Amino acid sequence: MSSRANGPLLEIRDLKTYFPVPRKSYFEKRRTVKAVNGVSLSVNAGETLGIVGESGCGKSTLGLTIMKLLEPTTGRIIFEGNDITDYSHKQMRSIRRDIQIIFQDPYASLDPRMTVGDIIAEPIRTQQVFQSEKEVLLRVLELMDECGLERAYLNRYPHEFSGGQRQRIGIARALSLSPKLIVCDEPVSALDVSIQSQIVNLLRRIQERYELSLVFISHDLAVVHHISDRVAVMYLGKIVELGGKKDIYRNPLHPYTRALLSSVPKISGEKGERVRLEGDMPSPINPPAGCTFHTRCPVCVGQCSIMEPQLREIEPGHWVSCLMV
Ligand SMILES: Nc1ncnc2c1ncn2[C@@H]1O[C@H](COP(=O)(O)OP(=O)(O)OP(=O)(O)O)[C@@H](O)[C@H]1O
Ligand SMILES: [Mg+2]
Repeated sequence: MSSRANGPLLEIRDLKTYFPVPRKSYFEKRRTVKAVNGVSLSVNAGETLGIVGESGCGKSTLGLTIMKLLEPTTGRIIFEGNDITDYSHKQMRSIRRDIQIIFQDPYASLDPRMTVGDIIAEPIRTQQVFQSEKEVLLRVLELMDECGLERAYLNRYPHEFSGGQRQRIGIARALSLSPKLIVCDEPVSALDVSIQSQIVNLLRRIQERYELSLVFISHDLAVVHHISDRVAVMYLGKIVELGGKKDIYRNPLHPYTRALLSSVPKISGEKGERVRLEGDMPSPINPPAGCTFHTRCPVCVGQCSIMEPQLREIEPGHWVSCLMV
């Protein structure tokens, strides 16, 4: 039975997604990329959870695993109280209506040979939501209105549109089955700044109107600030800090979050010293022992390279994994 009434919409527990590294010779040791390395979090109905972190920290892998477009190595995925981790393709069919995804590059994810109308209608037709084509058309037109696409574009092709318009098509398609959750993976990163805010505002509007939940993945702290209710900060496959938007932007506690934020003082209002992030993120094939951030941490002490910190609730709803906090 679903326990949705009191539980979160989505919950993931200690999720790990590893990729094998191809071996150059038979004698080489088997190695894995630990792209997602033990993530636990939940998404409540009607909320937007932002996920931020540098390139390569595992954001997209996490998004794809939540959707089960990638199989997790270990851990559990619970949707509306049902453990869907081991669901077959067939069992996932009904879940696919409820969870949709929007990608960074709408051009790559829209079939160039299909018209706008067919692209938006495809999920509705596949799931056989309506009896007649007339009903399909009405739904498509309604979605186009909702997403700010002129009805006259119905029979045009994706290449005829700008990046922002294409993202609107992607959003209309994602909305077509009235999902409960949309995973947005860098949905505005490829767009001009002026267009970015239009698309973010569109997402906010539909989120409120349909009481949708969004998982909003981005490396852009300003965009995440604009749209999120809660924010998770990822570093090398793990969440290092998780909290309400105010917790993260007004009172960041993890040195990594502070470093990320001090590069955008306008939104954080951080008046303290600027924390510079030195060096690159280590390889997720061989993450550092202890705290994975210790190799770049400005406040690291000896035990940080030995003891692995756990996420601890420092104040209600505000979780941090750092031995020094
Ligand atoms: N299919 C794959 N096979 C092997 N390694 C992969 C695969 N997909 C991702 N990785 C590796 O996993 C790590 C996390 O990648 P991921 O794409 O999830 O990061 P990201 O945070 O989304 O980065 P970006 O901000 O650049 O999109 C990286 O080291 C990446 O090289
Ligand atoms: Mg990515």
